[in-house]
Amino acid sequence: MTAEMAPWQTVPPPDWLAQVGIRLARAADLEALEWEGEYAHFRRMYAEIYARTQAGQAAMWLAELAGVGIIGQVFVQFGRPQPGPRQMYPAYVHGFRVRPAYRGRGVGTRLMDALEDDLRRRGVRQVTLNVVAENSGGRRFYEARKYFVTAPDPGRWTYVDQHGNTQAVDEPGWRMRKVLQ
Ligand SMILES: CC(C)(COP(=O)(O)OP(=O)(O)OC[C@H]1O[C@@H](n2cnc3c(N)ncnc32)[C@H](O)[C@@H]1OP(=O)(O)O)[C@@H](O)C(=O)NCCC(=O)NCCS
Repeated sequence: MTAEMAPWQTVPPPDWLAQVGIRLARAADLEALEWEGEYAHFRRMYAEIYARTQAGQAAMWLAELAGVGIIGQVFVQFGRPQPGPRQMYPAYVHGFRVRPAYRGRGVGTRLMDALEDDLRRRGVRQVTLNVVAENSGGRRFYEARKYFVTAPDPGRWTYVDQHGNTQAVDEPGWRMRKVLQ
């Protein structure tokens, strides 16, 4: 390990899986969600979603590994209609990712379990998300969890980046839905 390498860039420590905790985000976590700059362009969006969590209109679930930090995340927004692709949904899931070195070991599953259990407790029964057409791995993950494609999705939406500029996203894909039992 070189001096420049952060813990999450290295090979995961042995027995790391048992030390992963799933919890809701706190304000102090927001910077870590930028992943050392890779997602800095979503800074405002993350802050807005966090503000919505405080109003009971969103939830941000995180996977945290002791000594390493945040290794995964997934968000859900509900309640008040929002601009963009999530405006018509009772619960819209997005921002789901696990750091590459920690994928394929069940962290994503635990995150989605926590998110869906929470939705059940809130009385929300229908979950919607979009998956980009090229993301066959992501689609497989959702299908294994009983999400079904309901329609093609144009994947066009905008956000305001950290410099205040509006950015357009154009990522066609699939809308998927699950009815929680
Ligand atoms: C999708 C993602 C969050 C899942 O997290 P994870 O911790 O790897 O998930 P788990 O270990 O709980 O589940 C793994 C399952 O995901 C699926 N999967 C997801 N991406 C995959 C890939 N690139 N290759 C193979 N399988 C993949 C498989 O069905 C796999 O099941 P298996 O282990 O039985 O083969 C993670 O792979 C990721 O961050 N991917 C990049 C970002 C992304 O695609 N996010 C979803 C956007 S809609």
